Amino acid sequence: MTRPLVPDHIRDLTPYKPGRPIREVQRELGLAHVVKLASNENPRGASPRAVQAIHASLAELARYPDVGALDLRDAIAAHHQVRRENVVCGAGSESILATILRTFLAEEDELLTSEGTFVGFYVLAQSRGVALRTAPMRDYHFDLEALAGMMGPRTRLVYLANPNNPTGTIFGKGEFSRFMGRVPAHTLVVLDEAYIDYVEPGADYPDSLLYRFDNVLTLRTFSKSHGLAGLRLGYGLAHGDLITNLMKVKLPFEPSVPAQAAGVAALADGDFLRETVALSAAGRAALRAALLAKGLHPAPSQANFVMFPLRDAEEADHFVRHCLLRGVIVRPLGAFRLPHCVRVSTGLPEEIETFIEALKAW
Ligand SMILES: Cc1ncc(COP(=O)(O)O)c(C=O)c1O
Repeated sequence: MTRPLVPDHIRDLTPYKPGRPIREVQRELGLAHVVKLASNENPRGASPRAVQAIHASLAELARYPDVGALDLRDAIAAHHQVRRENVVCGAGSESILATILRTFLAEEDELLTSEGTFVGFYVLAQSRGVALRTAPMRDYHFDLEALAGMMGPRTRLVYLANPNNPTGTIFGKGEFSRFMGRVPAHTLVVLDEAYIDYVEPGADYPDSLLYRFDNVLTLRTFSKSHGLAGLRLGYGLAHGDLITNLMKVKLPFEPSVPAQAAGVAALADGDFLRETVALSAAGRAALRAALLAKGLHPAPSQANFVMFPLRDAEEADHFVRHCLLRGVIVRPLGAFRLPHCVRVSTGLPEEIETFIEALKAW
């Protein structure tokens, strides 16, 4: 029997579907003003220091980037008090996630994660053609105990997002420690901390970098709190042996020249980060209060967005359409396996006000 040109797991793959672009919605609905609260971007724009560094780097565009990304990895290492050997950089943390799946998996291996987590992981896992198992969430939180109970001899990798996207919820230090106590040495835990900067000070939150487990790989991104989603820049932190092997497999010339320069500058832009986090915290509180006033039940978010369930998938679709018609793009969550839920990113105060007006009219 001949094998088809396109393998079954690719033919059956549902591709990543991003939040809808503003221009597309404007064209479709004939609206002059559209607000996008659908992709957890930074509503303030990019770190000005990063933008300046990008301009300065343009003189180098004819040259290939530094394959080792040494300046950037050194800056990240100093920022987190680790060594350059513990840092890998890529074109977004999702690119590093893709490299992880290419580096550490054999065909017979199995992946484990939760229902209701980052759609990018589901898509990458399915594109890899290995078995993916998921545990149900517990009240919109990762159920680490259930995940620990599902681990078997073939489980090579567990993906956790903390705070989780799209729920915004976190798991605590005690849960994480108990979970790690049950993870065998042959299983890699990928801990995606894309939204760590938005976690309230004093929250019961296990910053994975304070643990130094040999089988934990931490992912961070410049796409959210640094406002560089369009540049594509993220990094991973782990034991040197894991990083050495990732570096063998990753595409050598990512991140790009401007991205490497911007990352160094963004890390030094503490003011931009603090202002971003404060704005997002205020937006999160406003969204939560408005949703509660409407009788809805938002999940407790520690990220730059708020998620809430509606009665069912049909009502959630209606709500998304209702908002679109009033010029607000919010995110339906079918692809995240929560079809009855909707996610709204924190925007500028006037953008949040536009959403709240639409909510009141619902
Ligand atoms: C949990 C999580 N991980 C990773 C990413 C992707 O980040 P990047 O832009 O660095 O690829 C996102 C983006 O929405 C996310 O929500």
